[in-house]
Amino acid sequence: ETALRRGGAASSHLPRRFFSVESSPERKVAVLGAAGGIGQPLALLMKLNPLVSSLALYDIAGTPGVAADVSHINTRAQVAGFMGEEQLGKALEGSDVVIIPAGVPRKPGMTRDDLFNINAGIVKSLCTAIAKYCPNALVNMISNPVNSTVPIAAEVFKKAGTYDEKKLFGVTTLDVVRAKTFYAGKAKVPVEEVDVPVVGGHAGITILPLFSQATPVSNALTDEDIKALTKRTQDGGTEVVEAKAGKGSATLSMAYAGAIFADACLKGLNGAPDIVECSFVQSSITELPFFASKVRLGKNGAEEVLGLGSLSDYEKQGLESLKPELKSSIEKGIKFVQEN
Ligand code: NAD
Ligand code: LMR
Repeated sequence: ETALRRGGAASSHLPRRFFSVESSPERKVAVLGAAGGIGQPLALLMKLNPLVSSLALYDIAGTPGVAADVSHINTRAQVAGFMGEEQLGKALEGSDVVIIPAGVPRKPGMTRDDLFNINAGIVKSLCTAIAKYCPNALVNMISNPVNSTVPIAAEVFKKAGTYDEKKLFGVTTLDVVRAKTFYAGKAKVPVEEVDVPVVGGHAGITILPLFSQATPVSNALTDEDIKALTKRTQDGGTEVVEAKAGKGSATLSMAYAGAIFADACLKGLNGAPDIVECSFVQSSITELPFFASKVRLGKNGAEEVLGLGSLSDYEKQGLESLKPELKSSIEKGIKFVQEN
């Protein structure tokens, strides 16, 4: 009986061990805000990622339950829950990637900037702890308003003397996920083959999908179709906020997008070639200090920030119109840290 059981266990685990565990290095991922609407499904998806060897789940409440639950899944990552500020250091120590979905979500009628007053302080304190306990980690910022929370994180790290612009990312993957889905539906092309870069920022008109560069190319789309697709991508978050009618914003699609981006960071750290994702990073692509565009991920984080490529006239207009709003959101974040 023992031999049989051993045989059974070995055969159900061998392939994973053979292909993933022994060939990929130890990697610790921490999720801050892990008991929330995004945090819980994101914890699940990171537990399913064979590149993760250690998963730290931190929140101000509820993490023991989430961690116990997720820890029973028979995958590689060792899961631990951490609750309350006194356990934040332990959660962060040794992390390679820190994902931050901590903070309040929108309700109908609110803009992402309306979240600034609460979330700016949360992000500032979490980043202060990151600077202390895992200054070399790649930070994946999900908390809104991303256009301001990324500059906040940068300022906190600068003050602490730990800032490395290659290691700070605003997660805009959900905009890409939406643009791909909406384009595939309209162009009637297989969604799994679709690629669409989305640049700029992560709020309203600052979200600029570049459908002129979408692949597979579709000649069936009119200018009106492109305008409608652009608007739907820009308003994708609001579409979900309204449908949830007061119960929050995108959580499941965001967890999916967050898991894709964290996986790309881990692959880059592990030396996989040609890992490119759009992200809101420190940038010299435009005159703005932070901007989302394609980024090549590698062993040090953002190895290269890629240019915008050629834009249609409609996209050029969109680029010019988004700059004032994005600039002021960035400045608001910087000022918050400088004055507090
Ligand atoms: P939620 O309210 O369901 O969960 C947030 C979690 O953060 C809660 O569990 C809460 O306890 C926790 N939290 C609060 N303060 C904390 C602190 N100081 N330290 C650790 N955890 C703390 O909200 P949600 O739906 O998961 O959304 C979280 C954030 O993500 C919001 O700001 C939302 O706007 C943003 N968001 C961003 C994107 C994006 O594309 N970047 C997409 C969706 C949502
Ligand atoms: C999204 O794009 O879904 C998030 O930024 C959440 C929101 O407030 O729209």
